[in-house]
Amino acid sequence: MGKFTLGVIVTLLVLLLGGLGFATLGFFPTAANVAPPHLERRIAMGAVDASMERHAPRVTNPLTPTDQNLEDGMKVYTMNCALCHGGLDRKPSSLVASFYPPPPNLISDPPDDPEWHIFYTIRTGVRYTGMPSWDKTLSEQDMWKITMLLSHLDKLPPAVQEYWKTSFGVAPSTGDEKKEGGEKHEHH
Ligand code: HEC
Repeated sequence: MGKFTLGVIVTLLVLLLGGLGFATLGFFPTAANVAPPHLERRIAMGAVDASMERHAPRVTNPLTPTDQNLEDGMKVYTMNCALCHGGLDRKPSSLVASFYPPPPNLISDPPDDPEWHIFYTIRTGVRYTGMPSWDKTLSEQDMWKITMLLSHLDKLPPAVQEYWKTSFGVAPSTGDEKKEGGEKHEHH
């Protein structure tokens, strides 16, 4: 039993030192200008989701989705998030292939997670990625307004859609994106 325990400890030490050596001798790739391998992505995303399940409080949005709150969300999003996550003008982020892992386009492909989930990601960020934590920069209110915008992208009230169109030059996505083509319809 004593020998067995010693064996386990020695094995663990060897693995630990091996890993440390691997890292300190420069064998871990650290460049961000490549796409993450599929398996690494699967494991890392599973870890992020599991950590969120464990840590994120199940809070509900304290704000009501009024036109004003949604429009405020659009402004705060544009100033802080569009650079990485794509703009409301529907142009993809120019940095989309420059992060490891890449930032998802939140406008063309909005998250279908519950609001507490989105809010937690915004508030705390995602470690080891380019996703910052916003709790030191944005107010709770602003984070909730962006959360609200992201969870209402496919069900915006008409006035907010109109505001979007006049502010960003394109109509918001309505969900039936697939059949593009009939653009440039100006009726006055
Ligand atoms: C500097 C670049 C950058 C900025 C600015 C940024 N993000 Fe991110 N964000 C990322 C990256 C990179 C990821 C991917 C992290 C991952 O794969 O786990 C991410 C992930 C996310 C996710 C998770 C998406 C998913 O699929 O679960 C949400 C939600 C999000 N960001 C919201 C925001 C909001 C809201 C803002 C503005 C307040 C913002 N981000 C600003 C880089 C950024």
